[in-house]
Amino acid sequence: GLVMKTCEGPVNIAVIKYWGKRNDELILPMNDSLSVTLHVDHLRSRTTIACSPVFKEDEFWLNGKPFPINERMRTCIEEAKKHISEEKKELSKYKLRICSENNFATAAGLASSAAGFACLVYCLAQVYGIDEKVVDLTILARRGSGSACRSIYGGFVWWQKGTSDDGHDSKAVQVASEARWPELRAVILVVSHKQKDVSSKDGMKRSRETSQLLHFRSKQIVQQRIESMIKAINAKDFDAFAEITMKESNQFHAVALDTFPPCFYMNDVSRNVIDLVNKYNAYKVDMGSSTRYSAAYTFDAGPNACIYLQDKDLSEFLSIIVSSFPSIEKEYVRGLPVEVVSSSVDIFPKHAPGALDYIICTKVGPGPRVIESD
Ligand code: DP6
Repeated sequence: GLVMKTCEGPVNIAVIKYWGKRNDELILPMNDSLSVTLHVDHLRSRTTIACSPVFKEDEFWLNGKPFPINERMRTCIEEAKKHISEEKKELSKYKLRICSENNFATAAGLASSAAGFACLVYCLAQVYGIDEKVVDLTILARRGSGSACRSIYGGFVWWQKGTSDDGHDSKAVQVASEARWPELRAVILVVSHKQKDVSSKDGMKRSRETSQLLHFRSKQIVQQRIESMIKAINAKDFDAFAEITMKESNQFHAVALDTFPPCFYMNDVSRNVIDLVNKYNAYKVDMGSSTRYSAAYTFDAGPNACIYLQDKDLSEFLSIIVSSFPSIEKEYVRGLPVEVVSSSVDIFPKHAPGALDYIICTKVGPGPRVIESD
């Protein structure tokens, strides 16, 4: 009577940001958002779910330690059970053992909840025989964490906020698969010495209650940017993609500052990374680049940077980063193999850039997958 599945789910990093809920319980957002799914080979959550009549209680283990099942997890499990297939009906009475693990530091604030909940929901769907053609898994994953709905698909993913009060139309759709833009790369710069951030959940609530900029942005700015971003992705127009991405990151952090009391998610190192990306873009133009931008930064609710760029510039850009941050050695570049050399390009300002812990190099990737099934 034991059923067991192991699945992997990817991280996604938004280029149009989700920030602010119109319904906290159902996790319904104030505006649409759009993200890039990163490759599961380099950043992923892995979940094993076992279901058996001999288990006495539901149990959850995260990165090797037991954890209580929180309300959002409970909601995902109960919602998934409602859609259990006819031939697996008896499983709904059995208890679950859920074991999750990330191959990156959960505390690094690397969208671990998005990968984790997407993987949980995808794995529950495998265990319970839920038909993806009938049940929209993005709607189930959304109940765990808003951004998780975007990790149900690979490539470029658009979370449509929806208008209904019950959330049945607040779902994610794929704009383009990972095959659309195989040259696109993402570099995660993990900033060391992080202070404890205000959680997304609490930060967003505070922003909705106090930031006029958030209300203006979600009503007047985001929709236009979504349209332009979809066009940029379909045309593989890096200039348009980069400009919207950086402006969105800036505006999200402006909303964080407009929140009262304010939320400071970026730190001095983050600001130096922005400075470096801007200088790199100017340097490339000087060197005769045909595009205005060669790299684009984006930051979520923490100081780590995600830099989008194209494969032709990856080795050069990483060499400059490694040479600019004395704390980082080329051995600390993980993920996709890339040649890092010592760079003579000295475009970085002469002040101390601060410290990085490590760098993860990756590309656009596919959605969740089953890796073991009994
Ligand atoms: C800044 O999805 O973590 O990363 O829905 O409360 O779980 P909850 O919040 P969460 O918020 C993510 C915010 C963001 C922007 C984004 O991913 O779009």
